[in-house]
Amino acid sequence: MKETIEFIQKQIKDFQPEIGIILGSGLGDFADNLEGVRIKYSDIPGFETSTVAGHKGQLVFAEVLGKKAVIMQGRYHYYEGYHISRIVYPVKVMKKLGVKILVITNAAGSVNKSYNAGDLMVISDHINLMGVNPLIGENDSTLGDRFPDMSEVYNHQLSKLALEKGKELNLTIRNGVYAAMSGPSYETPAEINMLRIMGADAVGMSTVPEALVANYCGMKVLGISCITNSAAGVHPSRLSHKEVVETAKRVKDGFKKLLTAVIKEM
Ligand code: HPA
Repeated sequence: MKETIEFIQKQIKDFQPEIGIILGSGLGDFADNLEGVRIKYSDIPGFETSTVAGHKGQLVFAEVLGKKAVIMQGRYHYYEGYHISRIVYPVKVMKKLGVKILVITNAAGSVNKSYNAGDLMVISDHINLMGVNPLIGENDSTLGDRFPDMSEVYNHQLSKLALEKGKELNLTIRNGVYAAMSGPSYETPAEINMLRIMGADAVGMSTVPEALVANYCGMKVLGISCITNSAAGVHPSRLSHKEVVETAKRVKDGFKKLLTAVIKEM
């Protein structure tokens, strides 16, 4: 960690990010036109090389509406085969760099039958069904406690702000529970039924490890899902990564506007 932080600080000098942003599938270009310092994951000591198509795999240090931010263009997924502690390493790095608020975005399938592809969902809470917890192992007490409280992982005030801004922008904005599965296979119709009975509104393969660790580190978290498809069995059609990426592309302008409006008032 010391080596990681020293390497990053050498490049960003006295730039101190307060906000962290993780950009999910198809949403990565939010950071494309920002002026700032870009560091490839593959160049950072301690980082893994991201593999998923549609993910750039770099940190962008830039001001967004006058707020200093560190943006992850691309993230690590558990299904890529990394140890779960590697998935959340960038969040710990953000904490060490001074980040206080983490905005996490993702692409998700709808479990709630009233949701449609193209809707955005502010995450109210999550269900961790990945079968693993990123805090397993020795606890680093400089970051957080052994048994962290999880009663408000997704900050209520930030969520309320995002919902208000979404409505102002005339977006279809939902507020629901995100269930995380390990992937990489999509769910079966029976699994989607199970998730619905459990109280999930959307399902995906990311976000929960990062949100869990950010909460553990004392950061305020805002989670936003882009509903890219109806989950298996909701409509009798087959699921494809292509559909996920295409919907994310279609929605990205609205999503960018929402993110910008929220950051402005943070
Ligand atoms: N299931 C799991 N992950 C996803 C989905 C889905 O339907 N869509 C986008 N990510």
